[in-house]
Amino acid sequence: MNIPGKALSRRSILKATALAMPAAALLAATGASAQTGKASGRPELALTKPIKLSGNTVLITGGGTGIGRGLAEQMHKLGNKVIIASRRRDVLAATAAEFPGMELMTLDVRDPEGVRRFAADIIQRFPDLNVVFNNAGIMRRENLLDQQADLADAHNTVETNLNGPIRLTAALLPHLQTKAQSIIVNTSSGLGFVPLVPRPTYCATKAGMHSYTVSLRHQLRNTNTRVFEIAPPGVQTELMAGQSRNPNYMPLPQFIEETMAQFRQDPPPVELLVERVWVLRLAEREGRFDAAVDALSGAA
Ligand SMILES: NC(=O)c1ccc[n+]([C@@H]2O[C@H](COP(=O)([O-])OP(=O)(O)OC[C@H]3O[C@@H](n4cnc5c(N)ncnc54)[C@H](OP(=O)(O)O)[C@@H]3O)[C@@H](O)[C@H]2O)c1
Repeated sequence: MNIPGKALSRRSILKATALAMPAAALLAATGASAQTGKASGRPELALTKPIKLSGNTVLITGGGTGIGRGLAEQMHKLGNKVIIASRRRDVLAATAAEFPGMELMTLDVRDPEGVRRFAADIIQRFPDLNVVFNNAGIMRRENLLDQQADLADAHNTVETNLNGPIRLTAALLPHLQTKAQSIIVNTSSGLGFVPLVPRPTYCATKAGMHSYTVSLRHQLRNTNTRVFEIAPPGVQTELMAGQSRNPNYMPLPQFIEETMAQFRQDPPPVELLVERVWVLRLAEREGRFDAAVDALSGAA
């Protein structure tokens, strides 16, 4: 890991934007060393079985933009049939047009009946479907002392980021279980391990996604379905307006390349984590949790 280990002044920490704080700055601010994760030991993440990364039929929710689009491009290049799905058909169409053979379907993961219909449709159109990326997500800033009466932001965030993947997984799992090899990849976030205080519901949903993914993996351990988690650090996308132009966030191509390199390992780790997110992943384990929350929030 590229960590200078040099303590930062409070002023320089506060100048960094929260989610965008470089790993090195966060490490220094929370008293971690260059040995983070090495002294305490990283979690045992290796799989026992290799996986096949070509010749699959792959659904990627939120595949028209950002991280989903980057993953869709890479899976397409690896020789998979890729279907991207989200709410905006025009955005999906623009992406699919760049990759011959890529398919699109509209989907709102917040709509329980719509998800059931979508699952029936995709299985009928693409019976070989065997890989699902639960990638769609939204992030909202919330002041808990001044919320909308209907809690619209909190409600939408839970429905999109947590209930959506749970209901899509439930709808597709019986089909995935019929395949010789099937894969579910859930996107959580580094902020599921250390919350960014101004985004409370977002971080709660991502902590929930991590926990749900662990249980899913264990419940499916004796089946042909393998379960992975992607927990990105801050990446240059339009998850929040303007984020894609913030130089402190990880460039999208670099994030996709590092994530795919993890996925291509034989066997791959169950958590596909880029180097930059380990500082958050291990904060609690290394006794830096409170300092990490303060550092992220202080910089927000
Ligand atoms: N970028 C980061 O810094 C970062 C860090 C950690 C985790 N993540 C996670 O990575 C995932 C991808 O985010 P991103 O950064 O690539 O941002 P993004 O470009 O905004 O992608 C989010 C995607 O989700 C889709 N989506 C949103 N609501 C949906 C719904 N109700 N039903 C179906 N699709 C929906 C959007 O498409 P439509 O608007 O067309 O529906 C969009 O394509 C998210 O889960 C996010 O939480 C991102």
